Amino acid sequence: MCGIVGCFSPENCYEKLYSALTRLEYRGYDSAGIALLSAEGRFSVRKKKGGVASIAGEPLPGETGIGHTRWATHGAPSDGNAHPHLCGKFALVHNGIVENEAALRAELLAAGEQFLSETDSELIVRLIARAYRGDFFAAVASACARLEGSYAVAVLCADFPGEIVCARRGSPLVAGAGGGALYVCSDVPALCGAAEYICPAEDGEFVVIRGGKIGFCRADGTPIPKIFTRVRASARPRAVQAGSRMQAEIAEIPRALSDTLASLRDADFSCCRTAFRSAKRLLAVGCGTAYHAALCLRAVLEESGVFLSCRPASEAAGLCAGAGDLLIAVSQSGETADTLAAARAARERGAFVLAVTNVGQSSLASLAHCTAVMCAGPEIAVAATKSYNCQLLSLYFLAARILACRMGVPPAWAGDLAALPAAAERAFGCFPAVDSLAEALVGARGMYFLGRGADVATAREGALKVKEIAYLAAEGLPAGELKHGPLALVEDGFPVALLATVRSLARKCEAAAAEVAARGGRVALFSQYGEVLASSRAAYRIRLPAVAEALMPAVSVIPLQYFACRLCLLRGLDPDRPRNLAKSVTVE
Ligand code: AGP
Repeated sequence: MCGIVGCFSPENCYEKLYSALTRLEYRGYDSAGIALLSAEGRFSVRKKKGGVASIAGEPLPGETGIGHTRWATHGAPSDGNAHPHLCGKFALVHNGIVENEAALRAELLAAGEQFLSETDSELIVRLIARAYRGDFFAAVASACARLEGSYAVAVLCADFPGEIVCARRGSPLVAGAGGGALYVCSDVPALCGAAEYICPAEDGEFVVIRGGKIGFCRADGTPIPKIFTRVRASARPRAVQAGSRMQAEIAEIPRALSDTLASLRDADFSCCRTAFRSAKRLLAVGCGTAYHAALCLRAVLEESGVFLSCRPASEAAGLCAGAGDLLIAVSQSGETADTLAAARAARERGAFVLAVTNVGQSSLASLAHCTAVMCAGPEIAVAATKSYNCQLLSLYFLAARILACRMGVPPAWAGDLAALPAAAERAFGCFPAVDSLAEALVGARGMYFLGRGADVATAREGALKVKEIAYLAAEGLPAGELKHGPLALVEDGFPVALLATVRSLARKCEAAAAEVAARGGRVALFSQYGEVLASSRAAYRIRLPAVAEALMPAVSVIPLQYFACRLCLLRGLDPDRPRNLAKSVTVE
């Protein structure tokens, strides 16, 4: 989604804003823009279609500024639709969607306003300009009161140099201070390295920078006392020496897993005990990769006879989570609108909500009863990698607690969680074989990923990765479903990645390999079992490192993540910035 940032700094305001924007770019790179306001009340604006680099140039003058990276929703990526939007004395950046756009646009057109862009965001700055009677804050508050949908806005007014008024509803906003500057921003990672102290805003709150201070208040101006906390050093993105962010993030998986395990062991989940032991229903939601992690949780619980209902968060309404239920909401960012909506609805209906997220100060963490915070570190590449492995570790850790509460004893594999970081490291040993596979498949136009049991979720995740960054039509399927239709697409050379990590299901997986091979398809088999690989008809055999079967999805996905990245690079694409996507999806 779009990223917004605001900065007040008597020194180097432009440089600080620009640098924050580069860290925010993973939220959208359709266009970028920046507006600085000088002490004399003059705006300097630079905005363009493309990533943040497109607005690089001479520093703009001013001590106060706002910036934006765009993921287009209303209106094509273009210079004209780039933020900031200006009207009269105001400049505005916005993240979110104005749902009553049509009615507001009609009203403003009837009043004689002329729009310069196709965006819904421009409506907001026009509403502010029309509401202005000399009180900057009141004009922003009155415009926000008319909006339906979601927003985080940062606004400058030429009459008030040195001030920024921001508001939030449904889209994330965090305040920060450090290095002689005050900030507002869409998320914590973008402030890392700049702000030393941060404090997230809640829905309905305003953040105001004025007179060299930053504070929170309600729409009527009543101040809200807040405590700023120190930014954890681990929240800072590490510098990437060479290659893509995605490659660097895959390389961080073993470290991310051991940090996450250490933090889970220190965390207190005692408030979840009643829900773990006696919740009527166990439910889990997430989107995309996070949903696949939830599917793995289902597989590991079902293995022990405990049933978990699992849905993509956007389809969670059908779960009807309510009183007596435990809802586990999984989200790397903790800001995904669909996941937040599902968790909020469940909580309102009386369910106990347990969040699993990488951002301890996220919106999801603040609405959940309890949060398992992973320590994957900032994940910047749009395609989730290390956060998935950490989600799996966290969910397995929680599954062990749930099973211990329900069965009286922890599952046999609970003691093997500590072996995951080393197993992840050993999975890197598969990379040379995966390199050859990617080279062989670089010209493929489509492929299947197949598995059985928990491997189905891994197959889906593998397919999602290659769709997302290598733009290959890919599908992740239960291997047994192949013969019920998908086999029709298999012809000479058609690639199929087959996961066989569950020994008891390996024979049935081989049946799928045989069905593919008989039609000329090329099978790449992934298994930790030498005999399964040896007896297969697969054209490519990739030996995974051994780890407890129940925990295997946290390891077997690593060669698939790497495969997608290699395929993407071989196709001359940028793995960090796939077209049409954004890292954090803050609209439903
Ligand atoms: C994964 O590679 C995707 N970029 C996407 O599916 C992502 O996992 C999904 O949007 C959910 O994000 P979240 O974990 O931040 O909620």
